[in-house]
Amino acid sequence: MKTLNITFIGGGNMAEAMISGLIASGHQPELICVSDVNPERLDVLQAQYGIQTELDNLRAIQHADTIVLAVKPQQVDEVLHHLMNSVRQGMTLISIAAGVVMARLEAKLSASQVGLVRVMPNTPALVGEGMSVLYSHADDVHKERAAYILASSGKIAWVDEEKHLHAVTAVSGSGPAYFFLLAEVMQAAGEALGLPKELAAQLANQTALGSGKMLVESGREAAALRTQVTSPGGTTQAALDEMYEGGMPSAVRKGVNAASKRSKELSA
Ligand SMILES: NC(=O)c1ccc[n+]([C@@H]2O[C@H](COP(=O)([O-])OP(=O)(O)OC[C@H]3O[C@@H](n4cnc5c(N)ncnc54)[C@H](OP(=O)(O)O)[C@@H]3O)[C@@H](O)[C@H]2O)c1
Repeated sequence: MKTLNITFIGGGNMAEAMISGLIASGHQPELICVSDVNPERLDVLQAQYGIQTELDNLRAIQHADTIVLAVKPQQVDEVLHHLMNSVRQGMTLISIAAGVVMARLEAKLSASQVGLVRVMPNTPALVGEGMSVLYSHADDVHKERAAYILASSGKIAWVDEEKHLHAVTAVSGSGPAYFFLLAEVMQAAGEALGLPKELAAQLANQTALGSGKMLVESGREAAALRTQVTSPGGTTQAALDEMYEGGMPSAVRKGVNAASKRSKELSA
């Protein structure tokens, strides 16, 4: 995998997260190319990571084994239309565009026998802690390439039915925003109780980080960890009683359902 030639079409936030992960995991920068419509953006990526850059998508894929389509969903059709006669048999095309279904990719590329992989990543990939969920019915060689690239910026998982990507989008794709909202509200509440802004932010943010590590590393379920810090009649119990009373669990459940519904609408 270390000799894979990888081209990113679109050099935005998600592409940068994946490029940074690949380089940190030892992938040679000369084997990575990024193409974008914005020359200033390419200069930044070139200076930061020492990778190849191209303004022209067709030139960018000339030596690629694997293409990562990292443009906005509304730009996908135009980009694929432009690339469709230049992709080669045996290439892997990984799309991270939210809501762009496999049938839409196949409509443009099936004749070229490119291995297609759809991925729903999330923004913690920017700090190497992403959660990417992959879907593909291509040969293993294509799946292995996609797994290699996405695993360099976090954890990966596979779904065997494309429809599950709506729920994935709702839980992990949009999920960072739910945790950011909680941190935001906790910080504001701390400030309202008289703490300086910086301290309130540090308390909320470090608590999020520590709790996240416990969730991932302790091997215990979230409910068990919550019970562990909730002494009957104590301060945590007082807070949780109020949060349940205010409908927090049901609001989160409704939010996740709304995100899944919106994902279905956007991909229709
Ligand atoms: N951010 C997330 O949380 C998240 C999560 C999961 C999936 N995704 C998916 O990841 C994809 C990328 O998201 P992002 O946040 O990285 O977007 P982004 O920052 O807007 O990056 C896309 C880049 O592609 C460039 N571009 C536009 N048209 C192009 C073309 N024809 N050829 C080459 N480059 C072109 C854009 O330039 P201009 O800005 O000048 O148009 C921009 O620099 C999206 O499809 C999104 O659905 C994002």
